[in-house]
Amino acid sequence: MILGIETSCDETAAALLEGGSIRANVVASQADLHARYGGVVPEVASRRHLELVTPVIREALERAGATLDDVTLVAVTQGPGLIGALLVGLSAAKAIAWARRLPLVPVDHLDGHVASLYLEPDPVEPPFLCLLASGGHTLLLEVRERGRALPLGTTVDDAAGEAFDKGARLLGLGYPGGAEIDRLARDGDPEAFRFPVARLAGLDFSFSGVKTALLYTVRDLSTAELEQRRADLAASYQRAIVRALVEGARRAARQAGLERLAIVGGVAANSELRAALPEAAAAPLPLCTDNAAMIASAARYTRNVPYPRYLALDAYASS
Ligand code: KG4
Ligand code: ZN
Repeated sequence: MILGIETSCDETAAALLEGGSIRANVVASQADLHARYGGVVPEVASRRHLELVTPVIREALERAGATLDDVTLVAVTQGPGLIGALLVGLSAAKAIAWARRLPLVPVDHLDGHVASLYLEPDPVEPPFLCLLASGGHTLLLEVRERGRALPLGTTVDDAAGEAFDKGARLLGLGYPGGAEIDRLARDGDPEAFRFPVARLAGLDFSFSGVKTALLYTVRDLSTAELEQRRADLAASYQRAIVRALVEGARRAARQAGLERLAIVGGVAANSELRAALPEAAAAPLPLCTDNAAMIASAARYTRNVPYPRYLALDAYASS
């Protein structure tokens, strides 16, 4: 059984995996803690991870009806993410693995998102073109085998999730904003406002322009007008981001000669994106946003580090 641990941002997560089957998947979100700041405060996140990491691992073991005796491998997110937050998970993983003389697998968070597709009951087989869209990254990946991904395009400025979060803030919605915009957009007209979607040469994305367009539009509205048009703004803004993602993913798939599309990462939970790419494979919603099952899944396709060499491993903030 693989014990997976994920603490790269603001969710403290632990999971137990047997083969590709999830035996337990526990996610303690800190979103409420950071909401009043309108974003994740790194030092607050680290301290909260420290409080939660042991109880969350215990809870996962309990739900799996297992003990540490059943664990044969420990997998943990090594980066990218908030360095202090990552260190909490990495230290916990090292301690458990070392105490039990187990091997450890340091997992790249992005490989983790892709590996969310390999979990039972509907594992996706490569080859496919993967759109990875989260709060920190927007990538187009050519995946020809499990455990390997070739980047074809990325964002030159904001990530798609970041654009959702910043847009939500401009609209006076809560944090994290993606799910809030998604909800509000259902009551709005996506054609009400025209927001530009940058079209770059090649397969890169840019989301800073659409964010600025929303800023200017909101600035020109009175408080009453904003209140009245909020759903239309959310729907139009979401339409612009989703359109850019869909066009980018389809173009990349064509260029790489890949027939199949897959979407992963927090933004893959977006209902309009899922509807706009009905042919794309996608993990169930709880596996799109950060979790430890995907980290344990990636460990199955990543080389492990034997006891006790992993004690020298360090976390990394960016890839
Ligand atoms: O993958 P994730 O949980 O964390 C990172 O690795 O960044 O992604 C979080 C991002 C946030 O920006 C959040 O606003 C966005 O995913 N998100 C959504 C939705 N649910 C989460 N964006 C759009 N629509 C959603 N339903
Ligand atoms: Zn993530």
